[in-house]
Amino acid sequence: KPLAVIFDLDGVVTDTAHLHFLAWQRIAHEIGIAIDEQINEQLKGISRMGSLERILRSGGAEHRYSAQDKHRLAERKNAFYVASLQQLNPGSVLPGIAALLEELHRQDVRVGLASVSLNAPRILEALGLVEQFDFCADASRIQRSKPDPEIFIAACAGLGVAPANCIGIEDAQAGIESINASGMLSVGIGVQLLNADLLLPDTAQLNWPLLQTFWLTQHS
Ligand code: G6P
Ligand code: MG
Repeated sequence: KPLAVIFDLDGVVTDTAHLHFLAWQRIAHEIGIAIDEQINEQLKGISRMGSLERILRSGGAEHRYSAQDKHRLAERKNAFYVASLQQLNPGSVLPGIAALLEELHRQDVRVGLASVSLNAPRILEALGLVEQFDFCADASRIQRSKPDPEIFIAACAGLGVAPANCIGIEDAQAGIESINASGMLSVGIGVQLLNADLLLPDTAQLNWPLLQTFWLTQHS
């Protein structure tokens, strides 16, 4: 069996991917750029400033703002986003996740978090899941966003487990690339993802027997 399972947060543990989108949509609207769910797919797993850069580029506005302007826009987006996090509570954990976390602990499988979100600690707090994670990679110490493997490697290191003994779970294309590059096995949530070692339509399908079978199939 795997020694650890490492989770992405936004879009895997809870549906904050949508709240990120709503906050960005508001900023984009204010500066006259229209964004849709398609660009949102490309923002998943990408840092706050990286996301802003992509939005500006999509509107042909990458040269219109100074570094200071961009900083203000990113801060304003985060203020909207943090305000929207107030609606989170333990009921906001996505289907299947709470039961899987409990089962992993029963099975003595280590549980990690690999999110580049600086808001990850407060989100876990609001969901009542702080105790369920043995180690959370610290986004403020990560130099490179997904698809770089840095964050998943940091989570493995914090758990004291080699990537080859871990499964990573992601809803973002950049996240799947990050897991694959780290040497872990990847589980993708969402039918549009490419290159996941196992692909599931949503988190409701996730459970321990399925991960165990998947692990065995990959190692036979
Ligand atoms: C996650 C999300 C991204 C978000 C990033 C930074 O990776 O998938 O959409 O931009 O975290 O989040 P933050 O809360 O620090 O702005
Ligand atoms: Mg995600």
